[in-house]
Amino acid sequence: MLKTSEFSHNLLAWYHLNQRSLPWRKTRDPYKIWLSEVMLQQTQVITAIPYFEKFITKYPDIDSLAAADEEALLKDWEGLGYYNRIRNFQAAVKEVKEHYGSVVPDDPEVFFKLKGVGPYIGGAVQSIAFNHLIAAVDGNVLRVMSRLDADDREMTKPSVQKTVKERVETLIPLEAGDFNQALMELGATICTPRAPKCIICPVRQHCEAYQENRVSELPVKKKAKKKSEYYYNVYFILNGKNEILLQKQEGTLLQGMYELPRFDVDTSLETIEESLGIEVHHKGEHIGSVSHVFTHKKWFMEGYILYTRDIHPEFIKLEDVGNLPMSRAMQKLYHLFEAMGG
Ligand code: ADE
Repeated sequence: MLKTSEFSHNLLAWYHLNQRSLPWRKTRDPYKIWLSEVMLQQTQVITAIPYFEKFITKYPDIDSLAAADEEALLKDWEGLGYYNRIRNFQAAVKEVKEHYGSVVPDDPEVFFKLKGVGPYIGGAVQSIAFNHLIAAVDGNVLRVMSRLDADDREMTKPSVQKTVKERVETLIPLEAGDFNQALMELGATICTPRAPKCIICPVRQHCEAYQENRVSELPVKKKAKKKSEYYYNVYFILNGKNEILLQKQEGTLLQGMYELPRFDVDTSLETIEESLGIEVHHKGEHIGSVSHVFTHKKWFMEGYILYTRDIHPEFIKLEDVGNLPMSRAMQKLYHLFEAMGG
């Protein structure tokens, strides 16, 4: 069994000497800490850094983010994916402005009720900004804990994650925010998925998997399910007036993002015309093929040009397309179109 205080002492001592210098570690502002955790929840540190810098410059406080135009926010988030994160964050920030005088609640009970605040974001923000003794269990922490306790349960299961959170909370010292970040840091830099650096690990004498020589077996992985594959045709529909048809997504995970019309490969031209309310007078070139990998699926897309003479409110001037938020998947095809001089 772990000696709790010795473990957290060793971990914190290591963290204080070795932590990476990251922009969100230079602030005590709860709003900026919250923003960083929303970004980091599903994005690597290295990717999040420039977005974080851009956001704190453009939206330096609760009021500026609350007042932002949603389309501009989505555009600034473009490329980070999981666009619901920023829409929920803005909704929560608006609540903080309206009900709590633009002050991030220093109270887990209140904070956990805000939109988009789940166990991870809630624990991370309340511990890092206010030192509440709550765990923040992300993928790194799950891996570290599975090895530390030689815990061979499947870490992807929500029921297991709940008990890991309770387990971390038995270890958490008063410096809760640093402790949580130290566990994540250990997972990111030492206790890595492959080739962990046990030899320089500050807590290896507390690590059951290390003692039992089982580090490489843990955490136990469920056999990866093969990603479902989808095949689409994506259409660049031009109307001869330097305009293109884009569709603003509603009611999907990509809500608010602009997409090119996309159809299953076997959809007939008549169905496409009917569904878009246009008449195609000429089929144009093949733009190219791209694929895009999401968490659980993979899209294969073929891009084609279609010409119409229709005037339609969804047509957008080609020169304005760059200002609209578009998912990475669609951008890949759009860049091919631009490279053709489109
Ligand atoms: N991943 C999630 N939160 C983090 C943080 N505060 N620092 C580094 N990596 C993180």
